[in-house]
Amino acid sequence: MNFDYMQAIRDRHSVRKYLPDPIPEAMAAALNEEIARCNAVSGLSMQLITEEEDAFKGFLANYGLLSGVKNYIALVGPKGPKVDELCGYYGERIVLLAQSLGLNTCWVAGTFSRRKCGAVVENGQKLVCVIAIGRGKTNGVQSRSKPFSAVCKAEGEMPEWFRAGVECALLAPTAINQQAFKFELIGSRAVLAKAGVGPCANIDLGIVKLHFELGAGKENFAWA
Ligand SMILES: Cc1cc2nc3c(=O)[nH]c(=O)nc-3n(C[C@H](O)[C@H](O)[C@H](O)COP(=O)(O)O)c2cc1C
Repeated sequence: MNFDYMQAIRDRHSVRKYLPDPIPEAMAAALNEEIARCNAVSGLSMQLITEEEDAFKGFLANYGLLSGVKNYIALVGPKGPKVDELCGYYGERIVLLAQSLGLNTCWVAGTFSRRKCGAVVENGQKLVCVIAIGRGKTNGVQSRSKPFSAVCKAEGEMPEWFRAGVECALLAPTAINQQAFKFELIGSRAVLAKAGVGPCANIDLGIVKLHFELGAGKENFAWA
């Protein structure tokens, strides 16, 4: 990820109201390149869908307070126990790239129409959720966060890299801002990441694991 992802992590907030401007071609190309790279390493089939309004029309979308959405990333992958976490991890990479390009985003698992979604979902694949993307009417606001001590624990002294990883995870989006994840330091270099409960728990887990890696530095630890 060759952009200032720490800045993107700090700047990102969910944005639910979008301007009608299309995504500029150069930005769409940068997003599609990163999506192709992530799909190649993960086996996912993430897709950028542009100028398509139907998935965000009607009751469900209004209920979720989203408006003006006509671009979104569909997170699609092979059915199986790992697909939600993978979509969380790689979807958030696209979110941070989008933020660095000056676009806004909102993860959406509930308040859109799966039937009207423009994604190609092959037999054996699952549409996990989507990410609304575009120029927002605002840049959103900082959400309330759980205290640091509520989401982690360490045997003995806490290294600086662990602290930095948890702080980045606390800035990550999670479904209904639950922040139900936990990070545990085992020994001096192993980190156990635990999901909370609920239908989006493993998507959230993938998202916060990416944030933790970016904050902590992958060279400092291994996932337990
Ligand atoms: C997996 C997932 C699913 C979400 N689904 C929805 C949704 O259906 N509708 C919505 O308005 N926001 C949705 N959100 C956005 C969260 O409400 C938001 O990330 C959270 O409140 C924290 O705010 P922030 O993203 O501004 O930090 C979802 C977030 C995640 C990570």
